[in-house]
Amino acid sequence: MPVASTHPDSHTAAVEPHMPRRRVLAWLTSVGLFGSAVLSAVSNLVFIKPRATYGQPARFAIGKPDDFPSGTRISLDIKRVCIVRDGPKMAAISTTCTHLGCIVGISDTGFACPCHGSRFDQDGTVTGGPAPKPLPWFKLSLAPNGELEVDKGTQVEPGTYLNV
Ligand code: FES
Repeated sequence: MPVASTHPDSHTAAVEPHMPRRRVLAWLTSVGLFGSAVLSAVSNLVFIKPRATYGQPARFAIGKPDDFPSGTRISLDIKRVCIVRDGPKMAAISTTCTHLGCIVGISDTGFACPCHGSRFDQDGTVTGGPAPKPLPWFKLSLAPNGELEVDKGTQVEPGTYLNV
């Protein structure tokens, strides 16, 4: 026959079997919260860090100086740069229109944009149309292997030539 306990800890003793379950639930909750915090932090880092690059690399080789005869202005449309050679002087001028980014073409007087009619002289100075700024000049250098290298990450003052 069951006997009712009158001991002050009798209630605690009755609850005792449930304590491990509460601890397990508390531990699972803690692990779940910690895990979701870690997962959230990792996904934020993955989201913020760029995983792809778009467009051309800023620095690239374009060939030997002899590939560009004196007096030529050769537009490398895929690279969006025009290589200019006048005797021993060479330069790289951007062919990206400073209005909205179309590729400018070579014209008799310099460069002309087919999109909205901006015009530039042979040094890239704006001579007409909506373009707000001149075409930038990029650093042109000679690599140790004799190849010309354009660095579109480095702009130079217009009129800065590489002597080859
Ligand atoms: S993009 Fe060249 S004039 Fe507008």
